[in-house]
Amino acid sequence: MHTSVARLGGRRLTAIALLLVTAQACATFGHRSPPASASLYVRLGGYDAVAAVTDDILARELKDPVVMPFFKGLETADLQRIRQHLVDQLCAAAGGPCFYPGKDMKTTHAEMEITPAVWNTFVGHILESLDAFKIHGRERNELVAIVNSLRKDIVREP
Ligand code: HEM
Repeated sequence: MHTSVARLGGRRLTAIALLLVTAQACATFGHRSPPASASLYVRLGGYDAVAAVTDDILARELKDPVVMPFFKGLETADLQRIRQHLVDQLCAAAGGPCFYPGKDMKTTHAEMEITPAVWNTFVGHILESLDAFKIHGRERNELVAIVNSLRKDIVREP
């Protein structure tokens, strides 16, 4: 009797110990929300998350009849560069370990005559992507602030 209770207790202790080790491992390997003090980049989920959101935005832009004509005539290699530069730019702006090696926004978009209406369409797709990735609250506000900060260099006011 005493022996079997002791054995059961032993098994229970082993199970609890295993749970604790698993919980510790989960905490160590990131199965836990990042702290509030973490960079936007970390809170979004790091590089893969930034790249996935960027790809989703770009796909939406390139099939929009208002936005797509601006990208007409570009080669696959151009689109690959633009995609990578968008990832680098967002990663760096969010405090990630990236460097944006492209041209500044004013120079890039100077000859495009992007109107406020085109801008609103473009930003509308960004917001759709944020919805699709369930990016809400603080992270959404910070991303929208980054996007809005670029408007003055991209849009040609009438
Ligand atoms: C949040 C808004 C935007 C951001 C962050 C952004 C960012 C960028 C970046 C990083 C590049 C690549 C620059 C390089 O490789 O040096 C680029 C290129 C380009 N962007 Fe934008 N852009 C924005 C809005 C727009 C809008 C509204 C349009 C037009 C509808 C547009 C049209 C283009 C085009 C056509 C290029 C290719 C330029 C080329 O290499 O020939 N962008 N943009």
